[in-house]
Amino acid sequence: MKVGIIGSGGREHAICHALNKSDIVKDVFCFPGNAGTATIAKNIDLNLEDFDKLKDFIISSKIDLIIVGPEKPLVNGIVDFLKDNNIKVFGPNKLASQLEGSKIFTKKLCQKYNIPTANFGIFTKSHEANEFIKKSKYPLVIKADGLASGKGVYICKTQGDALTAIKEIFDGKFGKAENLLVEEFLEGEEMSYFVISDGNTIKNFETAQDHKQALEGDLGKNTGGMGAYSPSRLMNKEIEKKILDKIIKPTIRGLKQAGINYVGFLYAGLMIVKNEPFLIEYNVRMGDPECQVILPKLETDILNIFLACCDGKLDELKIKWHDKKSLCIVLCARGYPDEYKKNILIENLDKIKITNREYIYHAGTINVENKIYSIGGRVLNFVCLSENFLDARIKILDTIKFLNWDNGFYRKDIGYKVIDK
Ligand code: AMP
Ligand code: GLY
Repeated sequence: MKVGIIGSGGREHAICHALNKSDIVKDVFCFPGNAGTATIAKNIDLNLEDFDKLKDFIISSKIDLIIVGPEKPLVNGIVDFLKDNNIKVFGPNKLASQLEGSKIFTKKLCQKYNIPTANFGIFTKSHEANEFIKKSKYPLVIKADGLASGKGVYICKTQGDALTAIKEIFDGKFGKAENLLVEEFLEGEEMSYFVISDGNTIKNFETAQDHKQALEGDLGKNTGGMGAYSPSRLMNKEIEKKILDKIIKPTIRGLKQAGINYVGFLYAGLMIVKNEPFLIEYNVRMGDPECQVILPKLETDILNIFLACCDGKLDELKIKWHDKKSLCIVLCARGYPDEYKKNILIENLDKIKITNREYIYHAGTINVENKIYSIGGRVLNFVCLSENFLDARIKILDTIKFLNWDNGFYRKDIGYKVIDK
């Protein structure tokens, strides 16, 4: 079979790599991919906003299945478009993707189906929001409604912070804003829970925890993710049952009642408060870098999983996992998540020797005349599977030290909550 993947991050390299292990997959195409995917797939440089060009390429290259990695094309309705053109595609459609595309859509769903989440208010006028926050307790959370690449969330410690947040959102910092969310601050520990769905059956796709802050000790600015580990230490049978019964199943059922069939990955960002799960947000895709730690644990052929979802046959498939610990450290360009330099040469990558339990997934890289350059903020993902998290972290740190990339920085404390010092 010929398979295409949309995206260019570490998540897509990891998916590409998993597909490459499948006996059924003949060719893999990546739209547009990175220097890592280029070694195991054909990178196709197309403007992803131009759905028509993409469709023409898929049809003329006879690609049998498309997998959509990132949220933006999903929220923009790429799945509906490709399906309308008789192309098999894995991912949720435009209506279902509102779970990530509109925080207010999700909050309303939670309200309707009693799904535990932080108490909230929706405001369409800044003076009303300003009045409300004067009477609120702090900390308080203020969120822009739409996609904001992880940046539209303000944890406000003071009324002054909240006033700034309201002003910035309504001034259009994250795109035109007709409303915003004010949320109660939940105190607990975060966990990411993943499922895969064919619309009728859902199956667990493992747990992970990521480190979003740029600096060690979970300090500094919010990023896309500086590292992750799987499984989450918070996972047990009792909490999993609560997550499924109180959050995931009512969501899928609620969508169904609105005529929406959810096919794809569903990523629940949760806050566990005194052993009770609360939904913080939904993402309609795999996490990045969570995908990079989860996929190396997968034993089942990933293509069969995607096909079973597209064909509504997930109930017939057993998904098997290696019982290992997995950890990922992301090497970033200095300056990220703010300004950073691009087109910096990365030497020594080809000299790195890794075992079959270690993986290097590229993100913001490009290959120019057989040399690898950085072109993004998150550049390389170093992953290791091991019996324990400490060994995995030590191996990765050795590898990154060997690479010795001057322009990079990374967190050495990934997984500190699951590693005893
Ligand atoms: P989100 O983009 O909604 O996942 O929010 C980004 C981060 O903000 C989350 O990963 C949490 O760390 C934090 N956050 C969001 N909402 C809340 C909340 N209601 N209470 C506490 N922390 C929150
Ligand atoms: N690592 C967070 C995300 O993928 O949204």
